[in-house]
Amino acid sequence: MRINKQFFSSLRWRIAFAYLMVIGIGFFIINVSIMEILEQNLIEDKKITYQKYAIQLAQIIANGYYDRDPNIYYLIREFGNDIDQVEGESTRVLLLNINGIVEQDSYQSTNLLRRNLMEDYQEVSGVLKGTSVPARDLYILTGEPAEYKRVLYAFAPITHYREGIIGMVFLSASLDAIELILSDIRTTISFFSATISFSIILISLILSGFITHPIKELTAGITRMSKGHLNQRVNIRGSGELRQLGEAFNVMSEQLENLDNTRNEFVSNASHELKTPLSAIKVLAESLLNMEVEDPAVYKDFLTDINFEIDRLNAIITDLLILVQMDKEDTVRSRFKKDPVLLNELVQRTMKGLQLLADQKNIRLELFDEEEVIVPGDRLKLQQVISNIIDNGIKYTPEGGRVTIEVYNTPNFGVVKVSDTGFGIAPEELGHIFDRFYRIDRARSRSTGGTGLGLSIAKRIVMLHNGDIRVQSEGNRGTTFRIELPYDDQERIE
Ligand SMILES: Nc1ncnc2c1ncn2[C@@H]1O[C@H](COP(=O)(O)OP(=O)(O)OP(=O)(O)O)[C@@H](O)[C@H]1O
Ligand SMILES: [Mg+2]
Repeated sequence: MRINKQFFSSLRWRIAFAYLMVIGIGFFIINVSIMEILEQNLIEDKKITYQKYAIQLAQIIANGYYDRDPNIYYLIREFGNDIDQVEGESTRVLLLNINGIVEQDSYQSTNLLRRNLMEDYQEVSGVLKGTSVPARDLYILTGEPAEYKRVLYAFAPITHYREGIIGMVFLSASLDAIELILSDIRTTISFFSATISFSIILISLILSGFITHPIKELTAGITRMSKGHLNQRVNIRGSGELRQLGEAFNVMSEQLENLDNTRNEFVSNASHELKTPLSAIKVLAESLLNMEVEDPAVYKDFLTDINFEIDRLNAIITDLLILVQMDKEDTVRSRFKKDPVLLNELVQRTMKGLQLLADQKNIRLELFDEEEVIVPGDRLKLQQVISNIIDNGIKYTPEGGRVTIEVYNTPNFGVVKVSDTGFGIAPEELGHIFDRFYRIDRARSRSTGGTGLGLSIAKRIVMLHNGDIRVQSEGNRGTTFRIELPYDDQERIE
């Protein structure tokens, strides 16, 4: 019961039903019209033919009838038989006198003889008066048991060359043969219609199956996905909208899966990164506890190390909080506040802050800014980006190198370009450096105090500004970061 209900409300059944309705109604209309036309034609033909017979007979017998020739009876019987043979319908021939009374009947039965037909058939008086009256078909109740039969009546006046109209011919023919043909055709058409309708249901069920199968598959995929299995992909077949739907689904599930993986990775990386300084602190603290030294210098030494690890812990947590905050802002982008920011000033201020670091490594910091570059943005966040990238430039460039910063305008966005003469980044690493916690050479990075979050934070910030950040590098020759920040607030479509 339940299954039936579901089936009839399914898309598949609805499509099949719609097909059936459209084709079925068309069929019905065509069938009815064909039958109607056929019937009209056949019966109209018969009427004309019988009209001709009546006129013919009236001419043949005009003189004999006037002379009351007794052979006339045989004449009309023969004529009647001839018509029977040619037309295949049993035909009755009546001769009526000028008063409408039956004088001869080819059926020889007496039930009509001497009867006045003027009242029963209104055509009779018309014919006898000389008006031309067309043949007529009608249903009469006859036989035992009584049933409706279709009959045809045709009339013609008997005209004597001197006396004018002296009587009339009244032909009556059953239309059994025609009815038989028509009912045969009706049966055949009904049979074919039924067969075709049945085939339509079958074919349309199969066809609609093709249409709904991918939808079912998608639904199943989505259901499984909502239960947490993100590795769902659907088979993409055919073309058109359903294919696009399937592709969109696959892209979406892949992204969701990636997102999920990234999240998991992030959590495990974060835990790992937090664990490293914590374990160091624990080891240091335990050694201190177990030591029996009196020298305060040793304590100081250990506590300095512990302090360093705590700073590192602090830095990681701060970065993580910034990232989480930024993820939140991404979802409420509209609340992100933007003021005009003079990039030249921002860069100069950042360079001042990092100058000491550069001097320690004997690295030259150079700025090229010939024009003012103003973009809408969040001053503090943008400073963080620039600071991060210049800091990287200094950190990953050996002593005596150079970090060059250019600030300039392009038609659509302001640009800050930071180039260094450092280690460079290998091509296979380029795609990963914006990942959270990603560090190329962990040992070296750790010695420089990095957490591997700097670039991912920078990228998030630039994305929030609808900008872009690109990197170019040649191994051992240096690296160039290019930050593009659009002048207008419009979302970037790529
Ligand atoms: N200018 C550069 N030259 C060579 N390698 C770089 C450069 N900038 C970044 N990298 C590589 O990309 C990695 C990721 O950089 P990112 O700024 O995200 O992290 P980090 O500098 O190690 O740590 P943090 O910036 O959080 O202190 C770095 O560890 C480094 O290996
Ligand atoms: Mg960095």
